[in-house]
Amino acid sequence: MTFSNTPAALTTLRDQRQRPLRDLRISITDRCNFRCSYCMPKSVFDKDYVYLPQTSLLSFEEITRLAKIFVAQGVQKIRLTGGEPLLRKNIEVLIAMLAKIKTLDGKPLDITLTTNGSLLKKKSQSLVDAGLARVTVSLDGIDDAVFKRMNDVEFPVQDVLDGIAAAKAAGLGIHSPIKVNMVVKRGTNDDQILPMARHFKGSGVVLRFIEYMDVGSTNGWDMREVMPSKEVVTHIHSEMPLVQLNPTILGETAERWGYADGSGEIGVISSVTQAFCADCNRARLSTEGQLYLCLFATQGHDLRGLLRNGSSDEAISTAVQNIWQGRSDNYSELRASGLAPKTINIKRVEMSYIGG
Ligand code: GTP
Ligand code: 5AD
Ligand code: SF4
Ligand code: SF4
Repeated sequence: MTFSNTPAALTTLRDQRQRPLRDLRISITDRCNFRCSYCMPKSVFDKDYVYLPQTSLLSFEEITRLAKIFVAQGVQKIRLTGGEPLLRKNIEVLIAMLAKIKTLDGKPLDITLTTNGSLLKKKSQSLVDAGLARVTVSLDGIDDAVFKRMNDVEFPVQDVLDGIAAAKAAGLGIHSPIKVNMVVKRGTNDDQILPMARHFKGSGVVLRFIEYMDVGSTNGWDMREVMPSKEVVTHIHSEMPLVQLNPTILGETAERWGYADGSGEIGVISSVTQAFCADCNRARLSTEGQLYLCLFATQGHDLRGLLRNGSSDEAISTAVQNIWQGRSDNYSELRASGLAPKTINIKRVEMSYIGG
């Protein structure tokens, strides 16, 4: 692929709020074997739910072609998501294809994935062999009964813990620590904050607590179920003293806190109480090749159409540049100022479709 722009010129791509494009999240399947109530509630995602047909999904070749185009625009990190990405057949083949791509400054691309961990025991080694360097596991509780209530498919917590252990054994935590993401819903799993912190303290795994968000339109979000990160930090600090750490890179979602006794760190992701839109450098590619510029977008931009109508790399690249340059999304900031939920009350895209 050849581009007329020089690397220096490409990295100057900015949106309407002067934000660069650095992080591309690619959803590779809309299916999941869990039914977390905040993401794929059983009442909606039941046996009659129609998933995307195979022909709608971007092929590995299409994904890789787009990935190269995005990397040429400054993307440095690619996160594979779903649904549950490990359900996509031969995902290792895709990882091997993506692992060959270099960033504009010639460094390896930061490739990661967000998984519910259910298949990690089986797949960690083959993922590492394909070139995956790190992983984030979603885990909403350490007590088996609470976890089963959260995943709503009776999936035992031990299997996820075994998956995390397998990921560690395969080397997925060597370059960058394995992360565990816990969405906190007040009244549902907030009693798991301390047990989760105790479990992962000193393990080398970075546990992150996420404020429950109003993504999509099926989870019946209620602000009263959001536990502000501040409360989470205070709660943990009272038993296991914490000190705030400096951010590692600009645009980071998590605020970092270290255990005062040096036994590792935790993170809090406060997308509701402390919006981080100002530095948002993320774009999301849906399973069928729609580009979404915000987690709360109602509409995507059809890149699959361009891929399949014979458009050149240059034409697709120009389209991506134009789309990014026109972007002004700041949904979480609007929500924080009291504007968003009332004014943007139309059907938003589901997280299981564009990924976390
Ligand atoms: P690392 O590179 O591993 O630090 O990943 P990350 O924190 O950038 O991404 P991750 O997918 O682990 O994000 C964790 C959670 O933060 C997601 O599951 C979302 O709940 C939330 N989140 C991530 N990106 C955004 C975003 O752009 N907007 C909002 N509102 N929330 C986000
Ligand atoms: N609020 C916050 N995070 C969510 N995720 C999915 N739905 C929500 C929500 N409503 C994130 C979680 C999960 C990942 C797949 O997506 O981090 O681990
Ligand atoms: Fe599946 Fe993750 Fe959504 Fe739960 S949050 S239903 S594990 S995609
Ligand atoms: Fe970015 Fe939208 Fe999230 Fe704000 S709400 S951080 S603009 S994805």
